Amino acid sequence: MAIERVAVIGAGQMGGGIAQVAAQAGLSVVLADATPELAARGLSRIAAGLGKLVEKGKLPASGREAVLARIEAAPGLEACAGADLAIEAIVEKEDAKRELFQRLEPHLGPRAILASNTSSISITALAAATRRPDRFIGMHFMNPPPVMQLVEVIRGLQTSDETWAAVTTLAKRLGKVTVTSRDVPGFIVNRVLIPLINEACFALQEGLASAEDIDTAVKLGLNHPMGPLTLADFIGLDTCLYIAEVLHRELGEDKYRPAALLRQHVAAGWLGRKAGRGFYRYDG
Ligand code: NAI
Repeated sequence: MAIERVAVIGAGQMGGGIAQVAAQAGLSVVLADATPELAARGLSRIAAGLGKLVEKGKLPASGREAVLARIEAAPGLEACAGADLAIEAIVEKEDAKRELFQRLEPHLGPRAILASNTSSISITALAAATRRPDRFIGMHFMNPPPVMQLVEVIRGLQTSDETWAAVTTLAKRLGKVTVTSRDVPGFIVNRVLIPLINEACFALQEGLASAEDIDTAVKLGLNHPMGPLTLADFIGLDTCLYIAEVLHRELGEDKYRPAALLRQHVAAGWLGRKAGRGFYRYDG
């Protein structure tokens, strides 16, 4: 099935970026949030971001207008009617996501596909809470969606081949490279990334080296664009801890046990860049 109209629910960091990418690829987009004001605010952030691209000469002003003309801020979920695909990017809480899908579904046509951008919640379990588990899938964009090339496509136990094919084709139309993962906690990217970050925390905790030297070693020694502690500060240490806890609990192996130093930073409120302090300081 061809996807021409997309609903994005959750107009935050990720949802706004996903809406922008879809509109840039020529799709018509409706962007919803918990209130019409929040949806409108999300659309304003997209407009501001595109404005910066125009200032830098990376996008013509007409391009900005064309993209914005394809995104509508939704007054409510009923505006999602007519969407071929609804991508959920709300808060990372299973109950909130289940509840949203239950409220959203009656507004959608029977053929519409539901996707979640979740980083850690089971696609199989979310699918089971809907009336169309075969047309439910994980579509995990990386942050920020307009810049990052990858989309992880996660097949729940119930996801049909047709749904997988439609979503993979769409992701390619958005200019993304896809990888397909089974529905196992962490999928591919976080399964590999979070243990790397956690190991860097253990190394710092043990006094193996300074934070700067651990980051420089990984950055230059492994040719990564940034060191793991810098990256953790970008992601948010609370988010890193949350995913580490999911891996540890669900996969059950000691190798996923979160470092005490990571827990302590979160307890101290040193959550990374967004808090002005994480493994590094950003307060001036
Ligand atoms: P965010 O906090 O920037 O945005 C979440 C948005 O959802 C907010 O605008 C909020 O008002 C809205 N929202 C919350 N509950 C809602 C509800 N019941 N109905 C409608 N809207 C609601 O969060 P962010 O970072 O955009 O994350 C969203 C999702 O994307 C999460 O599932 C997260 O795990 C996932 N994700 C996040 C990445 C990241 O690096 N931040 C990367 C990949 C996935």
